[in-house]
Amino acid sequence: MGIVIKGTGMYVPDRILTNADLEKMVETSDEWITTRTGIKERHIADREIATSDLACEAAKRALEMAGVEPGELDLITVATVTPDKMFPNTAALVQRKLGAGNCPCFDLEAACSGLLYSLEVAHSILSAKKNYKKALVIGAEKLSSIVDWTDRSTCVLFGDGAGAAVITLDENSRYAFDCGADGNTEVLYCPKFYHNTNPFAASLPEQPEQQVKMEGRAVYSFAVQALSGSIRRVADQVGGYPEHYICHQANARILQAAAKQLKEPMEKFFLDIAKYGNTSAASIAIALDDCVRSGAVKRGESVMLSGFGGGLSYGTAYFTF
Ligand code: ACO
Repeated sequence: MGIVIKGTGMYVPDRILTNADLEKMVETSDEWITTRTGIKERHIADREIATSDLACEAAKRALEMAGVEPGELDLITVATVTPDKMFPNTAALVQRKLGAGNCPCFDLEAACSGLLYSLEVAHSILSAKKNYKKALVIGAEKLSSIVDWTDRSTCVLFGDGAGAAVITLDENSRYAFDCGADGNTEVLYCPKFYHNTNPFAASLPEQPEQQVKMEGRAVYSFAVQALSGSIRRVADQVGGYPEHYICHQANARILQAAAKQLKEPMEKFFLDIAKYGNTSAASIAIALDDCVRSGAVKRGESVMLSGFGGGLSYGTAYFTF
């Protein structure tokens, strides 16, 4: 059974942070950011907006396009590295805000590959449970909360936002998937989300360590190999390359290098990084909605979604839109 995307939606906060704005915050330049990454601006949430709020707005738009009521949903997943709380999970908060009945809800954390892992899990659950028909798969991030705004090598890269898709199964559509992780925990990580309150701990940190740490060059090399390798393995499963690639928007140069390795034309790779920066688990879902609403991808066309991120994780999903 393949998957069908019934509807997509996205939401980004109103506040735009341009490269020129960042020039006033750290020692950087529009020229450096644009040529090294392709990013021109990103959206940043105000303090009072939570990840679940971003997720909920994207979900409403996806449900509207799909013509599905919140109460019809059989599953809600949220891929995120910036949940509102340790628990309840962000998906349950979204369920409450949408008024979406009692379907199972959970968050999935695989950094920027989270949306792809979620898609595979949702496909497996819908396939196993015949009475489950409709899943809402969301990627949502408020990365502005965990970025070190004094570190120019990371703070220029990230943005906030959410994307969502309503999916069902269809025996006439195709689906193929590849994913993995290499257990590298040194080159890309965020030390802690919560403050350790355990009175028996040997030593307690004065400040919660909650900012992203990244060795850019190491992640770059991994990303190019992971993307091209994973895309090739899925192409082997389905007998060829797709008409469109919608990949994690971390750096335009990574996609150019992967396209070159695959000997695929860059025109097949959708790019919206200039507007949003790297929104981690939200990025592929935002790009999917951008593609659908702009008409860049049409019904019946073949698509690969592909991404990579902390873990170091990667994944690729193939379907016909
Ligand atoms: N402005 C100006 N100069 C800068 C900036 C900046 N914002 N950031 C770094 N530099 C400087 C460095 O200090 C360095 O200077 P030096 O040569 O004097 O030491 C120089 O620019 C080159 O730095 P590099 O890190 O080598 O630059 P590179 O070309 O590798 O680009 C980048 C850096 C954009 C981070 C790139 O390595 C990259 O995109 N890596 C992958 C990131 C990624 O994909 N992450 C995805 C996962 S995110 C997640 O999972 C949450």
